[in-house]
Amino acid sequence: MKTMLITGATSGIGLAAAHQLAAAGHHLLLVGRDHEKLAAATTSVRAVATADIDALPCDLSHLDEVRALADTVRARYDRLDVLANNAGGFFYHRTETPDGLEATFAVNHLAGFLLTELLLDLLRDSAPARILFTSSTMHHGASLHLDDPQLRHGYTGAGAYGRAKLANILYVRDLARRLSGTRVSANAFHPGVVATGIWDSAPWFARPALAVGKRLLMSTPEQGGRTLTYLAADPDVAAVSGCYFQRNRVTAPTPAAQDDAAATRLHRVCAELVGLPE
Ligand SMILES: NC(=O)c1ccc[n+]([C@@H]2O[C@H](COP(=O)([O-])OP(=O)(O)OC[C@H]3O[C@@H](n4cnc5c(N)ncnc54)[C@H](OP(=O)(O)O)[C@@H]3O)[C@@H](O)[C@H]2O)c1
Repeated sequence: MKTMLITGATSGIGLAAAHQLAAAGHHLLLVGRDHEKLAAATTSVRAVATADIDALPCDLSHLDEVRALADTVRARYDRLDVLANNAGGFFYHRTETPDGLEATFAVNHLAGFLLTELLLDLLRDSAPARILFTSSTMHHGASLHLDDPQLRHGYTGAGAYGRAKLANILYVRDLARRLSGTRVSANAFHPGVVATGIWDSAPWFARPALAVGKRLLMSTPEQGGRTLTYLAADPDVAAVSGCYFQRNRVTAPTPAAQDDAAATRLHRVCAELVGLPE
């Protein structure tokens, strides 16, 4: 039985993975921003669980709440075996968080970056441990825009989303290097194209096609959740780190996602944006 924290556990891929991991007997810390959705998700996961299922409220678009979440985890639990940074969102129009950060990057990357950095000591002390990021094939063709980290110029929803998912992959590469020899692994994955609520923010003209795609072409949340479950729990991947998985296979991400110099620069920019020392 492992202790696993899952963000974005109130719906879609995170909720499906929570059901799978709870059914396998793991102790889960479910993170969600909406209290009612979090309570409903926790009740449904508890129904299949044999270990404890705890609910931890946190709006990841507020850096203070991310810091408070890390404090709560460190104070309440003496170990953390898996940290699954799964929460994400698609913002068709440029939006800023209450901290003044571009929201796509803040929710899809910076929150997970900050949470991971603040929980690294606990994860190291719990080794063997695993860090996961739910990334996406949308990192293809994306660029980091480190000269304009707030994407003030030329914002597109797809560009911002791809950039955040590219940052996930570069960050786990950087983490794997930093964590070498600690038995803490860090990996990112694409869960497939999955029929979840993330498509609900699409513009009105895309919705009819998406509704058909969701029914006929996309994977179910249960199928999408399986990659998270595999990377969180399967002994086959215990020693794999710094990789990008597509479904359950290590896959080469784009050259931009293998640029170690960019990963180092990204770390510096992210640390500055969230107020951590480099
Ligand atoms: N669906 C796909 O085809 C696909 C493909 C590649 C990657 N992904 C990635 O998979 C991950 C899960 O997404 P999904 O497809 O399962 O979509 P989803 O059903 O919309 O789930 C997203 C989850 O993230 C949570 N979340 C969003 N903003 C948050 C915030 N500010 N604070 C706390 N939680 C927040 C949502 O909470 P609420 O319930 O409160 O909204 C929800 O639990 C995301 O990182 C997404 O980018 C999805």
